Amino acid sequence: MTRTLTLAPVLAALLLMIPVAHAGGSAAAGKKKAVVCFACHGENGNSLDPQYPRLGGQYAQYIVQALKEYQDGQRKNPIMVGFASTLTEQDREDIAAYFAAQKPAVWTLRGEVSGSHKRQGTSL
Ligand code: HEC
Repeated sequence: MTRTLTLAPVLAALLLMIPVAHAGGSAAAGKKKAVVCFACHGENGNSLDPQYPRLGGQYAQYIVQALKEYQDGQRKNPIMVGFASTLTEQDREDIAAYFAAQKPAVWTLRGEVSGSHKRQGTSL
């Protein structure tokens, strides 16, 4: 009995650590939350339209920070302020985790998107 009692705080502490271990974003949850973003940024974050920045493979922390800055007005963009304003901290983390986990597709010097053509060996 005494042993159970002394273990209780340890177990409680371990249980409390579980959310900490999962702190940050969930890419699976982020994919659902990011559906609204796909129209411009592309489903995998690799928009082919240069007016929309690529988010695929971007550092999650960069995405979180950019979204915070649109929300608090440090970064001003009439389109993005609307999309960022409704996001919670957890939404930002999840969405960032999703886009960060996507494969980046950068323009090569040949004007092609890497990975989208056969001569991959020649792309940068
Ligand atoms: C209607 C089109 C549109 C939609 C929808 C949209 N964005 Fe954007 N997004 C833009 C444009 C345009 C920019 C560039 C703004 C600027 O110059 O600051 C941008 C910029 C960003 C940036 C900064 C990128 C960088 O490289 O600095 C992030 C992060 C971002 N968007 C995330 C999102 C997320 C997350 C969503 C969904 C919740 C979303 N966007 C929905 C058009 C859109």
